[in-house]
Amino acid sequence: MCGIIGYKGKEAFPVLIESLKRLEYRGYDSYGFATVHSGELHIFKNTGKISESNMLEGLPGNTGIAHTRWATHGNVNKTNAHPHIDCEKRIAVVHNGIIENYQELKNKLLKKGHVFNSETDTEIIPHLIEENIKYGFEEAVKKTVSQLKGRYAIVALERDTGKMVAVRRGSPLIVGVKDKEVFVASDIPAFLNYTNNVMYLDDNEMIVLDGENKFYSLLTGEEVKKRLITIDWDAEQAEKGKYPHFMIKEIMEQKETIMRAINQDDKEIEKIANKINNAFGTFFTGCGTAGKVCFAGEYIFSRIANKHINYVVASEFPNYKHFLTDKTLLIAISQSGETADVLEAIETAKKRGVKVVSLVNVAGSTIDRYSDHSFNIKAGPEKAVASTKATTAQLALVILLAHAVAGKLQEGKMLLMETASKVNDMLNPRYEERIKKLAEKIHKQPNIYIIGRSLNYPIALEAAIKIQEVSYIHAEGFAGGELKHGPIALIEKGVPCIVLAANDETKDDIIANAMEIKSRGGYIIGVSPENNEVFDYWLKVPDVGVASPIVNIIPVQILAYHLAVLRGYDPDYPRNLAKSVTVK
Ligand code: G6P
Repeated sequence: MCGIIGYKGKEAFPVLIESLKRLEYRGYDSYGFATVHSGELHIFKNTGKISESNMLEGLPGNTGIAHTRWATHGNVNKTNAHPHIDCEKRIAVVHNGIIENYQELKNKLLKKGHVFNSETDTEIIPHLIEENIKYGFEEAVKKTVSQLKGRYAIVALERDTGKMVAVRRGSPLIVGVKDKEVFVASDIPAFLNYTNNVMYLDDNEMIVLDGENKFYSLLTGEEVKKRLITIDWDAEQAEKGKYPHFMIKEIMEQKETIMRAINQDDKEIEKIANKINNAFGTFFTGCGTAGKVCFAGEYIFSRIANKHINYVVASEFPNYKHFLTDKTLLIAISQSGETADVLEAIETAKKRGVKVVSLVNVAGSTIDRYSDHSFNIKAGPEKAVASTKATTAQLALVILLAHAVAGKLQEGKMLLMETASKVNDMLNPRYEERIKKLAEKIHKQPNIYIIGRSLNYPIALEAAIKIQEVSYIHAEGFAGGELKHGPIALIEKGVPCIVLAANDETKDDIIANAMEIKSRGGYIIGVSPENNEVFDYWLKVPDVGVASPIVNIIPVQILAYHLAVLRGYDPDYPRNLAKSVTVK
């Protein structure tokens, strides 16, 4: 949700372009740069994607900031693109997040004679800094942020000194260091090509990038000492390599990622299993795809461990606060570890004394650090907006935890190792080709329905998200038994319906539901270990028992990818979406 970067070191512009391209998954409707050189601020902004620009002319200077936008306030145009500046063109600011009280502040600034060009909330920031500049740049930034309400991260650049000040309040900011070069960015891949030595800004902290690069607490004003952490991702993991898109690369990486996800410390798994067993109420929470994994978790724990876990989508979790006590446990699932709604759920929980366990993919992310205990799902950087490898890694870890809760950790491990190996076999070129052929048959259809039961009902919902978000085909998932209560009215001749038919106690019922659809003309795509006469097109998946959610989502991920490509869309950058949603 907007990517921001600041850099000081060598020639800034080429570094900023490279870094911004790597942040593009956070927003890609417009972009912009500001550098400082010979006492002047140089600015360039444009609409569209940075990766598709043919900018030939650079901006001069060794210090600069840049931004890739996911619009919240104001249309997509050059004026609204960041950086934004003050009246004197002395201060430039890039911003991620939302300033909730910007209108009130803007009105005050207008009365004082400040001139605004854009419709953004961001533009008030350079003007507020300008108002306070008599106190010096750092002080002016401090005074400014003390007036701002909301969750945000900013990097402000001063023309006269070439200093940058970065502030974190709710949105991520990470500092990367390499000899005399320093980076500050919304996410690690931005500078992973240059360095994997990082320091995390916490909320209410700022860093002054002036060569000394000191961190300060905005609450106490004191300097804060930071630990340098070396991240074990390498830059190549965050590149497309031989694949045309990140999405298909990440789908194929599931050959290894499931195995990595379950490679956890047994003692830690047992410890958390104990906590779940002793908690008076455990909740799973997450958003989007991670939310669907949480929902699947409810079924997985019921099936494997005979344990009731409550699933609540993170944006609704605060409405459950009355059910929370200091005996409650919250398990938060988030790929990025930065999703604002999940963070708010955690804050709500912590206020009630709830202990928080998280499953994240980004070590050092906010959710990782704010949790009492955190598991890393080890999927490696996930760049495509549509989550794939993180989803199955999360599912694997949830299945493992459920086994541990049932006192069957080793059995769970064996099952998941077998699943990982079967996924490895399944992800071969012939399999992809078969799914591509199906995509060719159905890519012009306006609607696709997906049904599943039990463990695979949440997977039907996730399958619908995958198809919608990258192909823009209207896709909806249902519990198999619900069709006859309404949705079956939508079925007419040729409508594709994906049936997730696991080889378990739900099989006969889901096949019966498939029959009901077929008798009304539906085109049945069976995702199942065995073929069935009701299937018009069969996508074989291995029979892995309670791990069926893992293998059932994979063919739909591949289908969604090919549907998007055949319809002429870039699956890595679905319209209106962003990878990491740091606004509420
Ligand atoms: C966005 C992304 C989804 C993701 C969701 C939650 O909506 O587009 O792919 O599932 O956020 O993100 P998280 O990082 O918390 O898993």
